[in-house]
Amino acid sequence: MGKAGARPAAIEQAYRKQFAASAELFEKARRLIPGGITHDIRHTLPFPPYIERARGSRKWSVEGHELIDYWAGHGALFLGHLHPAVVAAVKGQMDRGTHPGGCHPLEVRWAELVTQLVPSAERVRFTQSGTEATQLALRLARAATSKEKIVKFEGHFHGWHDYAAVGVKPPYTAPVSRGVPVEALEQMLLCPPNDLEAVQTILEARRDVAAVLIEAGGGSSGTIPTDPTFLKGLRDLTAARGVLLIFDEVITGFRYAPGGAQEYFGVTPDLTTLAKILAGGLPGGAVAGRGDVMDLLAFRDDPAWNRHQKVAHAGTFNANPVCAAAGIATLELIADGQAQRRANKTGDALRAGLNAAAERVGADLRVYGESSCYSLFLEPGRLGVDVNGKSGRRDHTALQTHPNMPLYHTLRCAMLLNGVDLQPFHGWLSAVHSDQDLEQTITAFEKALRMMLEEGCFA
Ligand SMILES: Cc1ncc(COP(=O)(O)O)c(C=O)c1O
Repeated sequence: MGKAGARPAAIEQAYRKQFAASAELFEKARRLIPGGITHDIRHTLPFPPYIERARGSRKWSVEGHELIDYWAGHGALFLGHLHPAVVAAVKGQMDRGTHPGGCHPLEVRWAELVTQLVPSAERVRFTQSGTEATQLALRLARAATSKEKIVKFEGHFHGWHDYAAVGVKPPYTAPVSRGVPVEALEQMLLCPPNDLEAVQTILEARRDVAAVLIEAGGGSSGTIPTDPTFLKGLRDLTAARGVLLIFDEVITGFRYAPGGAQEYFGVTPDLTTLAKILAGGLPGGAVAGRGDVMDLLAFRDDPAWNRHQKVAHAGTFNANPVCAAAGIATLELIADGQAQRRANKTGDALRAGLNAAAERVGADLRVYGESSCYSLFLEPGRLGVDVNGKSGRRDHTALQTHPNMPLYHTLRCAMLLNGVDLQPFHGWLSAVHSDQDLEQTITAFEKALRMMLEEGCFA
């Protein structure tokens, strides 16, 4: 942060006071759960708020504070919390059973909707999460091509399995976690994002590449925006060489447009990974794509195929009917594109409004992003980071390096004190965030920034 590394005392004190019940819960959690949290992205200093209930675009902390929510179920709740149609579908299924231990009609309808909406989806296989979806997509690509290597981009996030641990955060040469076998790391070939030449060089030099995997909307939920011409270039390059193109649309799927980023940018991959909105705010994921590749998962009337050629895939909760019910209700409601158009407009207004507020108070920050996602970069001026890429290609390493990390935690606390739970790096809007939500958020942002400036942040 501007002046020192320490967090501003007044904001922290006020936060500790206003969120005292959360502090108590966190103390207990720390004794039971490592670090007190169950997802690294929830790491918050001095402690996270504990949420008791939610509805629409809002949620309430255990202290009873009403908060406008920009986590939206980590991007899964495109229709907001407890959308009546989703709740009714889930309740209806709860009365019929939570696990039939077999096939059920809802998985067929769910798959049908995905194939109708997502351009690349000829067939769909459900998984339990986005992480599992990307893992299965890599296995399918290897099986389809009889090749092993996967090209991945620096700063792109594909879940937490071992192959996805490569090149997520700077320095990209170091895996994002300890405990990842070097054999897994060696399967992944890392490229800078938006650099077609780098991909071309790899594909020309090597004959062992199965697929190119990319977060279609840009690395880390758009923190590193993707150049649409790059996507088109990738499509041509991979198609010409028999390399599969995999779009990870766990974030962008059903959000950018009913058909996701592939519809939005007009580029169709071979395989697509989906999760989040797919399951309407409940757990679930899927791989969808070309029939010939997806059918590697299918049994045949041939024991040798089944034992030696088929791609194996299991998962107790794959296509769980309760999740399927929520997914179907959601996808049916967003199929006509109205919700996406509205959310995309709200996204534009939020980004513009937050930037205008920062300018009014003279805070050094930049909000950017695409569709109904935002990314927030603190102190681009002081750190000399060209967030908008006006000087040419964006420096993705700089966009992902945060020497001022405490400032992000302070911003989150300052926003919580003003009634907004703003994910401070990147976050998501739902289609039910209203004009009033936006107005209130922008006012809260201005107040939060003033509090921070008073304490010498952005110095
Ligand atoms: C682009 C992308 N891929 C994969 C994943 C992993 O999905 P999940 O958290 O459901 O395992 C995420 C999660 O945020 C994601 O953003």
